[in-house]
Amino acid sequence: MRIDIITIFPEYFTGPFSHSILKRAQEKNLVNIHIHDLRKYSKNKQKSIDDYQFGGGAGMVMNIQPIDDCISKLKSKRKYDEIIYLTPDSKSLNQETCNSLSNLKNIILLCGHYKGIDQRVRDQLITMEISIGDYVLTGGELAAAVLTDSIVRLIPGVISDETSALTDSFQDNLLSYPIYTRPNVYKGWKVPEVLLSGNQKLIEKWREEKSLERTKNIRPDLLK
Ligand code: ADE
Repeated sequence: MRIDIITIFPEYFTGPFSHSILKRAQEKNLVNIHIHDLRKYSKNKQKSIDDYQFGGGAGMVMNIQPIDDCISKLKSKRKYDEIIYLTPDSKSLNQETCNSLSNLKNIILLCGHYKGIDQRVRDQLITMEISIGDYVLTGGELAAAVLTDSIVRLIPGVISDETSALTDSFQDNLLSYPIYTRPNVYKGWKVPEVLLSGNQKLIEKWREEKSLERTKNIRPDLLK
């Protein structure tokens, strides 16, 4: 899979993408992440990429031209399955969307800033819009990093234990069951007996019950 990220803060991504699973996925060529500095596409001396809002109002708006030029250049080289704009005023990301995006070949992520981007970019160039939750971040970079992480870990071969991603919270619209490791008693706090029983059938049953119980208590909306 190839992910192209368009941003005014290219250095932002060095941290999140150079550790652990995301780092290994790139080394193994399971994903190729390319960062594009939007300012390089600005045609004015100041390298500005934003302007005042027509009709007045606080907050700058990102111009069409640099975004269009950057996206056009990428599209001239390969076909993209989705061109995604990260913005709080859109549908919230969930595991189902992560699953389907992880099957795509080439995607572009556009990070917004200031008040947002010119609506014509959204109307003409963007194929999908994603919010990572009902709160506002200072920019789309963190959202793009979250989205990339949630997709990349689902690409086959990225997580070595194949079943691990399948038993995540949300994969069946259920939260994960409680998990434990050694020691089986710590300060008198005990691991549930059933997990030490060696009876796999009983363990599976207990896990299913706990998943359901947790979901009912914490996220009843998932069961609807
Ligand atoms: N940009 C700013 N806030 C955001 C959010 N919640 N989701 C996606 N992009 C954003």
